[in-house]
Amino acid sequence: MEKIAPRFAGRHLITLEDFTKEEIDYMLKVSHDFKDAFYANEKTPWLEGKTGFLMFFEQSTRTRNSFESGMAQLGGHATFLDTSMMQIAHGESAKDTAVILSSFGHMIACRYCNWGLGNKYIREMAKWSTVPIINLQCDLYHPMQALADLMTIEDEFGKTKHLKVSVIWAMATTHKKPISVPVSQVLLFPRYGIDVTLAYPEGYDLPDWVIEKARKNAAENGGSLTITHDMDAAYKDADVVFPKNWGSWVTNQSTTVVDDALLALKAWKCTPEKMALAKPTCRYMHALPADRVNEVVDEVIDGPQSVVYQEAENRIHTAKAVMALFVHDKLPSDRR
Ligand code: CP
Repeated sequence: MEKIAPRFAGRHLITLEDFTKEEIDYMLKVSHDFKDAFYANEKTPWLEGKTGFLMFFEQSTRTRNSFESGMAQLGGHATFLDTSMMQIAHGESAKDTAVILSSFGHMIACRYCNWGLGNKYIREMAKWSTVPIINLQCDLYHPMQALADLMTIEDEFGKTKHLKVSVIWAMATTHKKPISVPVSQVLLFPRYGIDVTLAYPEGYDLPDWVIEKARKNAAENGGSLTITHDMDAAYKDADVVFPKNWGSWVTNQSTTVVDDALLALKAWKCTPEKMALAKPTCRYMHALPADRVNEVVDEVIDGPQSVVYQEAENRIHTAKAVMALFVHDKLPSDRR
């Protein structure tokens, strides 16, 4: 297993699709090791003397703080960069930003979720950076969330094969959210033999290429993907439910958040009645932040089936694993 570790050094993490299952298993194993060390109050100075940059085009609570605290716990330092205060705001290019920041440190992590822009920007930085680029969520992928979700499912069930895990659209009015969480989940979970049900109202489709790839991942790994517009069918006998909003970006690129069409979908909410359709052992999960008025009622998210805080906590253990594996010593070949 340890022979796998050198494979990560210097690579970029833009999507978990770029990694073998063996490599993802190793990321999870290291995450569990860091979780154990955290609870045992053991020091983990894997990245002493290393520095990284955390560039955020959008708001964050979990992602920013899991990386910032995680880097400190690994003995390094992470600099938070609000991109509205960088020269990016005056038009500085992704190339210039990536070349310069990578000459200053050992990692650049970035969140940029704007539809049609985020993934392209992160890939452009990856083309020029001499240090690993870590995707902290773009318009298409949220690999760090999917990794923590998978770790939480493993923690809760001790297995993944043939669990019924339902990714269910839910109504929210806070902002038009990216599709990156459900996309990452439907791509990753079938690779672990999970039977994924994807449920959403008409108009909230994920891209066709995602569905094709998720089906391929399922066929190769003994999982499955079922798509339905019937919310109750998704809750029925589920082991895990992820009721969460995402925007209709694929079918409608308008940035309008609330309109009559959205408000007509307010029945897409996680309630005790919906949870009663699932197995009694079903876990309620959510990447957070949750819209507690529209996506879910307090009785469920604060109830005994909810593991949202465990899921959020796993963000720091997985963040530390990813940084420890991907960040490496600078080499003479890093110089341009
Ligand atoms: N789930 C998640 O990525 O949370 P933040 O937006 O707070 O980082």
